[in-house]
Amino acid sequence: MDIVAKISEVPNFGSKVVSAFGREILLVNVKGIIYAVENECPHQGSPMNAAVVKDGYISCPRHGYRFSLIDGRCVEHPECILTTYTVQLKVDDILVDIGKRQNL
Ligand code: FES
Repeated sequence: MDIVAKISEVPNFGSKVVSAFGREILLVNVKGIIYAVENECPHQGSPMNAAVVKDGYISCPRHGYRFSLIDGRCVEHPECILTTYTVQLKVDDILVDIGKRQNL
C-alpha cells in the first residue's frame, strides 16, 4: 500500500484525482469513508471526476452508467466494471493498494 493523499485533501462528499502507479485514481469521500476508483469509465473512457455520487454509486457524467463504489459493478450494464481499489486510512494518510482490485 502506498500513500496517495492526505485525508484532509478529500473533504466529506468531495473527491480528488491523484496520479499514482502510472494511472489516475479518483478518491471519493462519503461520510468519512474513502473509496478509490479508476478515473476512467470502462464504457468509453470518460473521466469520472465530474461524476455524481449517490447511494453508494458513482454515475459517469457522459452516459450516466452507475457503478458501485465498493466493487465497481455497473447497474445497467453488468459487462462494464469500473476498477476499484483497496483503501486504508492511517492517521491523516490515504493508502491505496494498486495490486488489490476490489472487483477481481
Ligand atoms: S463513457 Fe461512461 S457511461 Fe459512457
